[in-house]
Amino acid sequence: MAHLVVTGAAGFIGSNFVHWLCSEHPDREVVVVDKLTYAGNLGNLEPIKDRIRFVRADIADAEAMAEVLRGADGIINFAAESHVDRSLEAAAPFLHSNVVGVQVILDLVKELEVPRFLQISTDEVYGSAPEGTRFNEEDRLNPSSPYAASKAAADHLVQAAVHTWTVPALITRASNNYGPYQFPEKLLPLMITNIMEEKPLPVYGDGMQKREWLHVHDHCTAVWAVWQRGEIGRIYNLGTGDEVANLELIKTLLAVMDASEELITFVTDRPGHDRRYALDISRLTTELGWQQQITLEEGLQATIEWYRDNRPWWESIKSGQYREYYERMYGRRGPAQQ
Ligand code: NAD
Ligand code: TYD
Repeated sequence: MAHLVVTGAAGFIGSNFVHWLCSEHPDREVVVVDKLTYAGNLGNLEPIKDRIRFVRADIADAEAMAEVLRGADGIINFAAESHVDRSLEAAAPFLHSNVVGVQVILDLVKELEVPRFLQISTDEVYGSAPEGTRFNEEDRLNPSSPYAASKAAADHLVQAAVHTWTVPALITRASNNYGPYQFPEKLLPLMITNIMEEKPLPVYGDGMQKREWLHVHDHCTAVWAVWQRGEIGRIYNLGTGDEVANLELIKTLLAVMDASEELITFVTDRPGHDRRYALDISRLTTELGWQQQITLEEGLQATIEWYRDNRPWWESIKSGQYREYYERMYGRRGPAQQ
């Protein structure tokens, strides 16, 4: 069997996906491509480093990508700049990775006749969902942040390539993920690790913004369902309906971790902050038969335990030491190149 290319898999969701793939489909040959930005951490792939081939490359580098895509039987693109707050400070890296990078992949998928391309997108492309509504895949895109706008641009580029060149591409749009290996700048790992360090918990604005939470393991099974059974040119929302206000989620963490609510610190709101994300996932459940396996309660418990058991992982990230450590261990191109 030819190899499957998974990009951005030194990051949170991509690394979980490759872990899952290696355990559920041990016959698959996997090539991981990652640029190793601040969010890429080879430590996330350490337990499976002998199972994969790692190539350090930028998805916008057509030459490097042509090399890995030649002879591949597909590509799943998790690579992206992914943090809204960073996109508010500087949008250029988002346009480079999330827009230019995706067009480079599309051009190569067409040219090299790669049989399947799955673009991992986000619920944020729909913008904020008014109370009482849930977005479905036909709803118009209305992104609020440069991050969301760059992902929406990529979705349009994918659809344009499918329409014009019948490029064999599909799109998934997932809700907020949580679980192991999530970079501690995102809400849940930041709050969990700050509670462990007894540091203040910065709540943006009134904390009443709502997100729909999807455990990363369930995201992986949903991505695989789309990869195997999804229809070319089609978009699939991936979510759970587990909708919680940020403040409520933080209070749940404090209760489970037996810590004081005095750590909660209200700070200035994020500019342009979306109040609510909510997805209609009936296409995923009815057409593809996908089912959620991990409830929010179980998932939060397991995630807290993971951060408790893996203190060196997040402490080295929070202290900025992990980059030096892995470059020393593996060199610039990563473990499989040694
Ligand atoms: P992440 O920031 O943890 O990881 C992104 C990875 O991509 C990193 O390893 C980084 O080094 C790599 N990367 C960035 N630019 C690259 C480039 N130009 N070339 C090669 N590699 C590059 O992000 P994540 O949370 O794992 O998100 C993965 C994907 O899922 C993204 O496309 C994101 O938009 C999407 N998504 C995330 C969530 C979420 O809650 N985290 C929800 C829905 C969709
Ligand atoms: P985040 O994890 O950045 O994901 P996104 O903005 O892509 O949904 O944030 C999730 C929610 O938590 C969002 O409403 C912003 C809020 N938030 C805080 O209140 N404080 C924080 O320190 C962070 C990082 C996020």
